[in-house]
Amino acid sequence: MIRARIIGTGGYLPTNIVSNADLAARVETSDEWIVERTGIRQRHIAAEGEFTSDLATAAAVAALASAGIAAADVDLIVVATATPDQTFPACATVVQKKLGMTHGVAFDIAAVCSGFLYALTVADALITSGAHRNALVIGAETFSRLLDWEDRATCVLFGDGAGAVVLRAETGTGAATDRGILAHRLHSDGRYNDLLFVDGGPGSTGTTGKLRMKGREVFRHAVVNLAAVVGETLGAIDLTPADIAWIVPHQANFRILEATAKKLDLPIGRIVVTVDAHANTSAASVPLALDTAVRDGRIKTGDLLLLEAMGGGFTWGAAAVRW
Ligand code: UT7
Repeated sequence: MIRARIIGTGGYLPTNIVSNADLAARVETSDEWIVERTGIRQRHIAAEGEFTSDLATAAAVAALASAGIAAADVDLIVVATATPDQTFPACATVVQKKLGMTHGVAFDIAAVCSGFLYALTVADALITSGAHRNALVIGAETFSRLLDWEDRATCVLFGDGAGAVVLRAETGTGAATDRGILAHRLHSDGRYNDLLFVDGGPGSTGTTGKLRMKGREVFRHAVVNLAAVVGETLGAIDLTPADIAWIVPHQANFRILEATAKKLDLPIGRIVVTVDAHANTSAASVPLALDTAVRDGRIKTGDLLLLEAMGGGFTWGAAAVRW
């Protein structure tokens, strides 16, 4: 059978770092409140004229270098983003142009913070069906441009960034010992649209709008949904949380990571945490965390990784990956 294996990772963070103290100078908040409630200490913010496609392209170039393949070898680009440079064309086609490619298929996925899990699932399906061989799967966001910088309840939570992986078609046995993507599960429930949304759009107000969130309610759903989808994904391949070497989660709030670890009966030390340094980068957070833990040597060949995320929609999902 065909397995899609992650053969390279890359990340990109804008150079401008904004600390909690910097934000406390703009809105009524404090470093203590932000660290205690979220674990966030700083975030990266894109420069003027630096767009989501630029962040995505930089992460893609790094991922291609680590995979040891050229853009010419890629035949599929899927970009997960809620902050494309323009309403259309798809950010993925802008990345395709910036990589100098004139072939292949490129499109975007809109699932906000769960976007990378959705993109990975779609790319895995296109590879395992035999339709494509080498895919770039990217999560990239400039959420700073969706924020209401006067709303302290949301503006302290997010940052900009991009992460990317290269997937390659390989031959597997079908067993859970294979390297590559072993299983995934996605969910959405539109009844919760109004707990996390942007109050504008091209088809309604004709404006971009600003992010609005009922944080406490999102938090409650996140812990329940994430633990459930992790169990469901592992169950599909007859494994349990005890088999997980590393959870690579969406980075919304350190307290969500702690609560999820507790529900799965895993020590917090087995969770890759980047929320302190990156804040919530929406679709970019899972591939950025993955790239961080691959590059610092924590993730080793044969490790079972569990990627998971939850976001606006609601949308949520998980993927089990053998490294
Ligand atoms: O990525 C998509 C998924 N998103 C998430 O998963 C986010 C989930 N939610 C959360 O992470 C948390 O709910 C937040 C970090 C957003 C908020 O933490 P919380 O412990 O749920 O606080 P809260 O919203 O209940 O607010 C507590 C208090 C309020 O004051 P009162 O009403 O108790 O007087 C807020 O007005 O904290 C106040 N507050 C702040 N104070 C200082 C809210 N934001 C701030 C702030 N600085 N930045």
